[in-house]
Amino acid sequence: MTSLANLYPAHINELQVRAKNVLARENIDGLVIHSGKELKIFLDDNSYPFKVNPHFKHWLPLVNITNSWLIINGIDKPTLIYYQPVDFWHKVEVLEQSYWNAFFEIKVITNAAEVDSLLPYDKSNYAYIGEHIEVATALGFEQINPEGALNYLHFHRAYKTPYEQQCMRESNAKAVAGHNAAKAAFMSGESEFEIQRAYLRATSHNESETPYGNIVALNENASILHYTALERAKPAAHRSFLIDAGANFHGYASDITRTYAFEQNDFAALITRMDSLMLKAVDGLKPGKSYVDLHIETYQEIAKVLAEFNLITTSVESAVEAGIVSTFFPHGLGHHLGLQVHDVGGFMADERGTHIDAPTQHPFLRTSRTIEVDQVFTIEPGLYFIDSLLADLKNGEHSAMVNWSKVEEYKPFGGIRIEDNIIVHQSHNENMTRDLKLD
Ligand code: GLY
Ligand code: MN
Ligand code: MN
Repeated sequence: MTSLANLYPAHINELQVRAKNVLARENIDGLVIHSGKELKIFLDDNSYPFKVNPHFKHWLPLVNITNSWLIINGIDKPTLIYYQPVDFWHKVEVLEQSYWNAFFEIKVITNAAEVDSLLPYDKSNYAYIGEHIEVATALGFEQINPEGALNYLHFHRAYKTPYEQQCMRESNAKAVAGHNAAKAAFMSGESEFEIQRAYLRATSHNESETPYGNIVALNENASILHYTALERAKPAAHRSFLIDAGANFHGYASDITRTYAFEQNDFAALITRMDSLMLKAVDGLKPGKSYVDLHIETYQEIAKVLAEFNLITTSVESAVEAGIVSTFFPHGLGHHLGLQVHDVGGFMADERGTHIDAPTQHPFLRTSRTIEVDQVFTIEPGLYFIDSLLADLKNGEHSAMVNWSKVEEYKPFGGIRIEDNIIVHQSHNENMTRDLKLD
């Protein structure tokens, strides 16, 4: 495998080209990207966990430095203003020798305010890219996160360079180690809280380093789509386990879900069936196809599963037509993945940011984009037994379409989601998650 150091120069080159193009198009002289600063909790002297500006970590693998800056004009070597204070209260992130150093003009500051003397004096034609409007204004920026520039950058961020793809393989490998540890903890009868601890230990992450709050759900809790409560007590019985958990590598996220049955039973058979449905959806990722069409095809496949498992009393066609599949599969098939778990640009038709909504029947779909080479997606079909949605269906006009006694049998298991991370190549899809060994 080519090393990150070998892949990095072409990555920087590509970002420079994008910067040059967007600056020319928007008539701007340069981008000034702020890593961010700590956010204090209300009336407290403690801060929230620091989350770096994604535009900053796009350029280099620094996710923990505050008060640092990039100055970019797409032609000259980018300048990195690196904040390295003298501080005996907190750990200081010391600038390390690494493969990326040579691609920046690096200036170290020890006091955050020093940046003023290093930024362009006349900022009228420089764009501040970052979260802290008050900082930008105080420094004299007039152009703050200009929409045209952000649209361009967000649209192009969907195409991952080989360097980024390698980072995402690494973040998949980390998460898979966590998933294997979590499965073992489930099988030995641990609580959600203990399973989470096993996951974090295996990924060497703390809770604020994972790309999103892990979903570690036993039994009925698997029906709560974004369940993050982490029950401390063991349940009376272990029936099922849904874990949706990722990892970070150099600021790139993985986002993986697995569902397990504790025993070989009908729910285990349903998981096996959903797994083959999921792999079929992965095969459907093809350059030139709309992700919306793939979602709709998969929605129809889920109707087939409902029929096969005797959960509906009507035909596949009428279940789709009536929209009752949405009760069991209420979310989108997946999303772009990258610097953020739900990466930006999912609804952009072009680099100007022309917005295409998700279809009204599928409002929770997170991308309406055409699938293209070098894009990275999750594929994550699900089938759940969600009390509130089932109650609506039961009280509505389509109630007779459902085999309610069968639904009751499955309810104690909560639901199923299976999620892998895929790179679309010209000749094939690369399933980064399956290529690794998930027990
Ligand atoms: N973990 C959030 C998602 O799967 O989209
Ligand atoms: Mn997920
Ligand atoms: Mn996801």
